[in-house]
Amino acid sequence: MSEHLIAITGATGVTGQHLTPRLTARGLNTRYLVRDIDKARQTLGDGLDLVSADLDDRASLDRALEGVHTLYLNSGHSPVLEEQQTNAIEAAINAGCERIVKLSGNIDSPAPIPEAHKALEQKIATCGTRYTFLRPNFYMTNLLYVAAGLKEGDSFTSAIPRDVTISMTDPRDVADLTATVLAEDDKHDGQGHYQTGTAPSLDQVAETFSRVLDRDIRYNVVDVDVWEDMVTKRGLPSWLIEHQVKMIGFAANGAYSYVTTATHDITGHPPRTLGTFITDHAAAFTPD
Ligand SMILES: NC(=O)c1ccc[n+]([C@@H]2O[C@H](COP(=O)([O-])OP(=O)(O)OC[C@H]3O[C@@H](n4cnc5c(N)ncnc54)[C@H](OP(=O)(O)O)[C@@H]3O)[C@@H](O)[C@H]2O)c1
Repeated sequence: MSEHLIAITGATGVTGQHLTPRLTARGLNTRYLVRDIDKARQTLGDGLDLVSADLDDRASLDRALEGVHTLYLNSGHSPVLEEQQTNAIEAAINAGCERIVKLSGNIDSPAPIPEAHKALEQKIATCGTRYTFLRPNFYMTNLLYVAAGLKEGDSFTSAIPRDVTISMTDPRDVADLTATVLAEDDKHDGQGHYQTGTAPSLDQVAETFSRVLDRDIRYNVVDVDVWEDMVTKRGLPSWLIEHQVKMIGFAANGAYSYVTTATHDITGHPPRTLGTFITDHAAAFTPD
């Protein structure tokens, strides 16, 4: 077992659930900071060092980070994400952590969450610890939301122009890259890894759904205001709609079309394809 104690946040989330078994398999010395220990045990299984900590509660972070060498900082979208992660960064500095690895995403978009990530990265880069930033693009799991309607019908709807491409990452690849960076300690110091898979257009996503699910699936493109109405009726909170409208505007200009080799370079395997993702999640897109 590695001597350095690594504290993990967001372990019960979209990428975190895949990260945990990878860290265990590598024999890393880990402590999981979770809000609800029983719920985390149900999600992650037995045998992990689970410690109660909430990003909204600075004192809980001070306690949980005692003796920790590396903080892995990841948490879900929230209107107070910057305040929450600032709590963790300040607690890490207070506890004498030597290294922070932070999952951000693409920080260049003028939308509230990327702007928060950018400010947090700046905070970390100037606080004196060693650091690495992980910047994956659009998670394929977002399709579980965008294309949830495929359970009932043969089309999905968004406001991204049909010819614009967006690079997509399988969360399992994010977990592979994160586990490698955490295990390799100082090899990634001072770096920001932009991670993507390939970049299909949403028409090509529809083609992949059609091929894998053996159905004729179409992509409907609508104006942003129509899309905004749709997601408002679905109950999406206004702060998240504001964030997503800005992300759509940025994506529509091709800002997320870039493709990188980070997955292959760091993990040693090619990125998982969209076809593999849809095959592995076919039930979520198939009528009962
Ligand atoms: N979705 C994308 O396409 C994408 C792309 C690139 C980057 N990102 C970034 O990835 C990050 C994670 O996003 P996600 O949507 O995938 O969410 P997620 O990882 O599923 O986030 C939820 C996780 O955060 C934890 N959490 C939430 N509030 C907390 C709190 N107050 N204290 C402690 N833990 C808390 C949750 O714990 P509980 O189990 O206790 O709820 C859960 O483990 C975000 O920062 C996002 O900007 C997302």
